[in-house]
Amino acid sequence: MTAQYETNVPLAQVAAELSRVFAQRYGRPPRWIAAAPGRVNLIGEHTDYNDGFVFPMAIERYTVVAADLAATPDQISWHCTRLDATAAIDLAAPIQRGEPRWADYIRGVLVGFQRLGCRLPGLEVAMASTVPLGGGLSSSAALEVASATLLEAVTGRRLEPVAKALLCQQAEHEYAGMPCGIMDQFISVMGQPNHLLLLDCRSRTTDLVPLTNPELAVLIVNTNIRHELTGGGYAQRRAQCEQAARGLGLPSLREASPARLDAAQSTLDPVVFRRARHVVGEIERTVLAAQAIRQADWPQLGRLMYASHASLRDDYEVSCPELDILVEIAQTIGQAGGVVGSRMTGGGFGGCTVSLVQAGRLAEIAGRIRAEYQRRTGLEPSLFVTRPASGAVMVQAGPAAK
Ligand code: GLA
Repeated sequence: MTAQYETNVPLAQVAAELSRVFAQRYGRPPRWIAAAPGRVNLIGEHTDYNDGFVFPMAIERYTVVAADLAATPDQISWHCTRLDATAAIDLAAPIQRGEPRWADYIRGVLVGFQRLGCRLPGLEVAMASTVPLGGGLSSSAALEVASATLLEAVTGRRLEPVAKALLCQQAEHEYAGMPCGIMDQFISVMGQPNHLLLLDCRSRTTDLVPLTNPELAVLIVNTNIRHELTGGGYAQRRAQCEQAARGLGLPSLREASPARLDAAQSTLDPVVFRRARHVVGEIERTVLAAQAIRQADWPQLGRLMYASHASLRDDYEVSCPELDILVEIAQTIGQAGGVVGSRMTGGGFGGCTVSLVQAGRLAEIAGRIRAEYQRRTGLEPSLFVTRPASGAVMVQAGPAAK
């Protein structure tokens, strides 16, 4: 039987392979290697830019960058092995958005360091990634945070975790044109092995919640429908939430109770009301889900995950038929078949579901999901399992540039 799900290539192996690619390309080994993970959000979707709670974990999928100083002082050559493409960035001129587009995330981070007063040296860089692209698993945040981690080492300028996450978020806003919240960058910086991170996006305080039960596994299923968050649907949702908060006379939807929202229903545009109903309910579900994990109350966690999915599908309208089918399949397998809960994860419009399942029944569950998804959509899903992983790290730390 072929494997029902992919295994994750260990970070050390990705880094070792990248080091070889670097040496082949640039004729010497790299001086620094930095890595940052993607993430999966267990629950708390589209709540971060509403000052709410989110509950993500870092995954065992990484963007890895290897670098050394270049002979030319003001030139950065950044090679992406996955796309077999190289971006040339000129540090002598103000850094502008440009081609290739993927390098805009890097340009934004470079500018972030320049604004801190860091003088950047010329660099030669090679990059590899095992985070699926456009799958809602934060390949962008992994790229930004890996770049920032590399630049910390290169410049010797260490950033506080919160400042580092905010610098990366700013890069995405300004250089990629995506008005994201703070979840992805925070978890890519702060993830801890065997822990979920309950993040209060208003106070920016974090609470680590252990997920160590060896009988449980986190299964990620990719619809392989690409999502495009810069396409406008995300920004529109964000604007609708702001409109709802203004309509309620509140600084953000975090301050709105379900009762207050219901009382104001007739004064709000019906679509805006439904968007707000998702957010207010989702913030509550996220807090309850963290409690359920702490108490090992799996039936409660399952209910919350399915309710989150239904709300994202019906009120927030960021799901798609393929995601709905994956969640239906998981829900049909149910607790009796070893599935605790399942929902879409990330920004939506395609991408992945996250499911909590019994580890002992993984192969059987993955096989059923794969076969049923193929039967109903004609598409091939990708599946993998992950433990909560560590946030950004230096895999190899050379001395900072003089
Ligand atoms: C994207 C954004 C995050 C968050 C999620 C939805 O991943 O980058 O900030 O808003 O969508 O929860």
